[in-house]
Amino acid sequence: MRKNIVAGNWKMNTTLQEGVKLAEEVNEALKNTSAKCDVVICTPFTHLASVASVIDANILGLGAENCADHVSGAYTGEVSAAMVASTGARYVILGHSERRQYYGETAETLREKVALALANGLTPIFCIGEVLAERENGTYNEVVKAQIVDGLFQLSAEDFGKIILAYEPVWAIGTGKTATADQAQDMHAHIRNVIADKYGKEIADNTSILYGGSCKASNAPELFSKPDVDGGLIGGASLKCADFMGIVNAF
Ligand code: 13P
Repeated sequence: MRKNIVAGNWKMNTTLQEGVKLAEEVNEALKNTSAKCDVVICTPFTHLASVASVIDANILGLGAENCADHVSGAYTGEVSAAMVASTGARYVILGHSERRQYYGETAETLREKVALALANGLTPIFCIGEVLAERENGTYNEVVKAQIVDGLFQLSAEDFGKIILAYEPVWAIGTGKTATADQAQDMHAHIRNVIADKYGKEIADNTSILYGGSCKASNAPELFSKPDVDGGLIGGASLKCADFMGIVNAF
């Protein structure tokens, strides 16, 4: 069966010292709760090795926010999937809308990144989602389907089974304007149908599909109560331990 997951995406926030402290706080809070979901934090590259050394991997997963689309070599400033894995991280966010929008990530580069992440034993948290104009002109279902088809449908069924999806409507990210629970449910059901058409119902049913975009402790219970919403990918509210734990405890 699919897992419920709450994952933090710290984005470009916290110094190393602040990040290690936050990770320690979340780890400690989880020790004292019986969380009913898997919990993951995705941090800047610079923090990964240090965070890995202060958390218990059995109660708190660790991931990166990106990885390179090449194995190794002359790619100044890039960080490979093997490097990420060597820190102890087990997850990697790929295809976040901020990377698609500001860094020109295309389906082609994402296919390379997904392949390299899997080859290095990392679990991709693959992000999809429409922009406001696409929500308003009614093309959002097709847009999201195309992102899944173009980025992931080259995978074998076995490899697809290792992917976590995150539906993040771009108009809801960092805006305080969350999708309604019904909008999220409708899209997540659509995504599950798209997967089922390609890989079959069993794989679709086993895929965790997270919601992201202004998710916080106050709206998480309603979002997570929907049958096809398997958790959240959390930006702003993952930067304070109490806020993040409020979302974890929504399950
Ligand atoms: P916010 O939770 O800050 O809206 O960000 C969501 C997000 O982009 C997570 O990847």
